[in-house]
Amino acid sequence: MSIVNAKEIMVKAAKEKYAVGAFNITDLVQMEAVVDVAIAMKSPLIIQTSVKPSKFLGVDVLVAIYRTIAEKAPIPICLHLDHCTEIEHCKKCADAGYTNIMIDASKQPYEENIRQTKEVVDYCHKVGNISVEGELGTVSGVEDQIKVSEDETQLANPQQAVEFVERTGLDIFAPAIGTAHGVYKTKNPKVDFERLGKINQLMNGKTIKTPLVVHGGTGLPEDYIKKLIEMGGAKLNVSTELKRTLIDAEYEYIAAHREEYDPGKVDEAVRDAIRKAVGHWIDMVGSAGKA
Ligand code: 13P
Repeated sequence: MSIVNAKEIMVKAAKEKYAVGAFNITDLVQMEAVVDVAIAMKSPLIIQTSVKPSKFLGVDVLVAIYRTIAEKAPIPICLHLDHCTEIEHCKKCADAGYTNIMIDASKQPYEENIRQTKEVVDYCHKVGNISVEGELGTVSGVEDQIKVSEDETQLANPQQAVEFVERTGLDIFAPAIGTAHGVYKTKNPKVDFERLGKINQLMNGKTIKTPLVVHGGTGLPEDYIKKLIEMGGAKLNVSTELKRTLIDAEYEYIAAHREEYDPGKVDEAVRDAIRKAVGHWIDMVGSAGKA
């Protein structure tokens, strides 16, 4: 039951109007904490790694840990490669056992985005039970090695989005709708909910064919999240909040126990803080009890 690709859990989510939380992790403590809380809340789960951590920790090591944890978990869990601009690394992760791959050629001209995305889709579908995510338009902010300034931000055109998905054969789709990576500068960020709704209506009007992904979860107000799900968002990505939670928990623990040299206690502090943060996200996206 437990090793799944992203599309299969997202189709169910889109039908039942909730989203699956997709959490970027950078180490084993975070990965276990995310899984623990998803199991406790009976929620489907997407674990994500950005490219840098996947290279630093090693793709094979990450997949081995994922499989070990997921195979015995009573919930469906997907391992997703996030925002990868390198086709060869996408293929390497697919070969190793990631179950969702995001090729991010969104900064390329439209035809080149199609060419690169289709190459990864064709490859992953040949390898096996792997779904592929692609992006059209650009999400502002910083995610791993990708930086997009506010001036460069371009929202996805709904008609072009349909053509993009048809020509590439994508399984799940991330349209740029104004959400941003990192911390929002304002309490009420400008998000184009109607654009997401329009894309969803064109793409998934009769049956859910290509579930939609919302990037830039950190800092989105709860009412935005509910509205994004109502408009068709079925995967909600959260990265910056978990990085901050990890660093803050480590810092606070060490600052309060400066004479102690017990790494396990630092890990426990991180684990508890991540569990709390992820539990709150699972509540917000409405996926508790859906596994
Ligand atoms: P945040 O870093 O804003 O949470 O965005 C995460 C994301 O979209 C990863 O793909």
